[in-house]
Amino acid sequence: MKKRLLTGDRPTGPLHLGHYVGSLAERLRFQSDPQVECFFIIADYQVMTDRLDTADVERNIIDVALDYISVGIDPTRSAIFIQSKVPQLTELTTFLSMITTVAKVGRNPTVKEELRAAGIEESQMSLGMFSYPVSQAADILLFQAHYVPVGEDQRPHIELTREIARTFNKLYGETFVLPDEIVSDVPRLLGLDASQKMSKSRNNAIYLSDRSEVVQAKIKAAVTDSGHEVKFDSDGKPAISNLMRIYELATGRDIARIEEDFAGKGYGTFKTQLTDALNSFLDPIRKQRDVYDDNQHYIRKVLREGTERAREVGEKTMRSVRSALKYDFSAIYDA
Ligand code: TRP
Repeated sequence: MKKRLLTGDRPTGPLHLGHYVGSLAERLRFQSDPQVECFFIIADYQVMTDRLDTADVERNIIDVALDYISVGIDPTRSAIFIQSKVPQLTELTTFLSMITTVAKVGRNPTVKEELRAAGIEESQMSLGMFSYPVSQAADILLFQAHYVPVGEDQRPHIELTREIARTFNKLYGETFVLPDEIVSDVPRLLGLDASQKMSKSRNNAIYLSDRSEVVQAKIKAAVTDSGHEVKFDSDGKPAISNLMRIYELATGRDIARIEEDFAGKGYGTFKTQLTDALNSFLDPIRKQRDVYDDNQHYIRKVLREGTERAREVGEKTMRSVRSALKYDFSAIYDA
């Protein structure tokens, strides 16, 4: 039996190198395992947890899907789907929220952190923001996913998901697979300001879709450390070390080899070569992206078909959920 994997992203903008290092690379490894079937959720409901301006959501869904496909996520093997277009997710969220206490959800440290980051007072938090971890539990449980690759910050959500699954199984009989989070041990990339992790909101990211001139300008402006030696020291030289990790990603060379190659050469030379290496790495990704960008028909079809597959699997799970709950009402419907 194949095992399922589920993970995904909020459609808040195009994906960047930090996403590649932290998660896309790992997704590609899982996708090539014939024992695993991957589902990638574009979590559009979650966008509204911390912003009510929805003008860009549709464009961002397409952008994220374009990014997935251009890095090598293969829609003939993996399903890419839109959260709000799978009604079974909403149905499951309703049931799961009945067996989950407010107290338990209220302890979630990630939600608190996100509130702080978005500058939202706790008294102004929406019910949807408060309870989205239950909706995310439904995202995972609907697919009976064994594997959930996520960032460290998502750990509390997966822990909650397991607790909800255990509670359901105990109350209504074995129904859900207990998922395992897979937290990458690759440290996060910092942004080009070298002070915080790479992120869209901090304006310090290189996007997978950035054109070569943009990459060049961004690397040129990237913060460096004092001194001039290209040496890896994440505490003493965080900026140059981070750029070396980007060089490592782009070339596949390990850090020791990079230090050797740039011994006695200085930051200027390093930045020039980093720009070239990064552009060679991004070229095929950008090329793929252009092809699919010009063929919006294809990308829409990928999303529709992925969502169709998600509904199929979701409906199968919901049949056993409704039956376990005795909410299939066969006396009314099968008469
Ligand atoms: N919360 C995740 C993020 O912000 C996105 C997400 C939604 C997700 N549903 C999920 C991740 C289910 C893993 C599993 O990145």
